[in-house]
Amino acid sequence: NGAVRVNMSNVDSPLQIFVRAKKKINDIFVEIDDYVKDAVTFMHAVTGENGIATPQDLANVEAYVSKVQAIREVLKRDHMKVAFFGRTSNGKSTVINAMLHDKILPSGIGHTTNCFLQVEGSDTDESFLRTEGSEEKLNVQSVSQLGHALCASRLQECSLVHVYWPRELCALLRDDVVLVDSPGVDVTPNLDEWIDKYCLDADVFVLVANAESTLMVTEKNFFHKVSTKISQPNIFILNNRWDASASEPEYLDQVRTQHANRCVDFLSRELRVCSPKEAEERIFFISAKEALLTRMREREKPVSSPILAEGHQVRYFEFVDFERKFEECISKSAVRTKFAQHSRRGKNIAAEVMAALELIYNTATDQKASKVEKQRVLHEQLSAIEDQLTTITRQMKDKINRMVESVEHKVSLTLSQ
Ligand code: GTP
Ligand code: MG
Repeated sequence: NGAVRVNMSNVDSPLQIFVRAKKKINDIFVEIDDYVKDAVTFMHAVTGENGIATPQDLANVEAYVSKVQAIREVLKRDHMKVAFFGRTSNGKSTVINAMLHDKILPSGIGHTTNCFLQVEGSDTDESFLRTEGSEEKLNVQSVSQLGHALCASRLQECSLVHVYWPRELCALLRDDVVLVDSPGVDVTPNLDEWIDKYCLDADVFVLVANAESTLMVTEKNFFHKVSTKISQPNIFILNNRWDASASEPEYLDQVRTQHANRCVDFLSRELRVCSPKEAEERIFFISAKEALLTRMREREKPVSSPILAEGHQVRYFEFVDFERKFEECISKSAVRTKFAQHSRRGKNIAAEVMAALELIYNTATDQKASKVEKQRVLHEQLSAIEDQLTTITRQMKDKINRMVESVEHKVSLTLSQ
């Protein structure tokens, strides 16, 4: 289908922190699984008639098999999630498309994105859509209908459409990043519902702002709400449409400083999610439109408007810089939040199974000791009897001797008469 596969080596991508940690923790859970299954086999062998373990002991250990299985299932599906928010037309969908190196999501002037669109890697080679709660695979072309505000078959704004895209077409998807596009924060009264449904498990938030204007109250309010529900959310701010600055070069530096100061202030002093210094590393001036065009060209996709404004290379580098910092942040944050809990759980399961086995071992040792004790008592009783027997036999012998002597005496007396 003319798709160009990304063949870039990703061994030094910061996303590998997550990918490797995920592999490692999955391997560890394979071992825990084996260990628990071995324990069950052992428990079977020692349960039953004359066994040392009770059926309840066996059931307790057996229950860990499904617990471990459930964690392994969750681990297999664990991913890094980034959600994009901002006012209508700031370029959220375009930023995502640029990061995916392809025009996957609908974008355009006016109010475009009409519902939540979650792009994730497809396990097969195909690309398809699925609406929430349905198993039906829909053709990708329908994303422009389902997700577009101007189409008759559009969905409700807080519904979710999953867009599955072949992993090998995009490095982010291959490394388990899931990207969530949203309708503009200014077109909905349902911000709370959005946050509860789609944000609580996001590892990173990207606020796509419009560098042609400034941070807006609706955008700020949305993130105020987010930071009351999530402690210390990771937030990046993209001042998009920075290509507009090319037409007003005389104020470029001042405008940039003005935007940067406001963004730093918002993250560090208003939201208090990071220090001013950290905030500086979270703010970028980019042009998503140019970045997407550049990447579409690299992949030899047909594109229109080939002329890019002055300074597009600098803006493109800044976009790439954003991607790198974003990858580092999401990777580390996801490892911390997702795997720390699982590894604690894994450790506890191993310890609990060990404790159950130890209990059985102790019962066995006690039983052995009591058998030895019984033998000792028996042994003592036997020697006592033996002693008694010796005494008795000695006394008998004496008696007999005496009887024999007296008989002999009587006989000799009789004979001598
Ligand atoms: P909604 O889905 O309606 O909330 O908008 P959105 O934030 O997803 O914006 P979208 O990506 O659809 O972009 C809106 C329009 O702005 C499109 O026509 C884009 O081509 C254009 N656009 C996006 N990014 C840039 C940019 O960096 N510079 C310029 N000049 N135009 C841009
Ligand atoms: Mg959009």
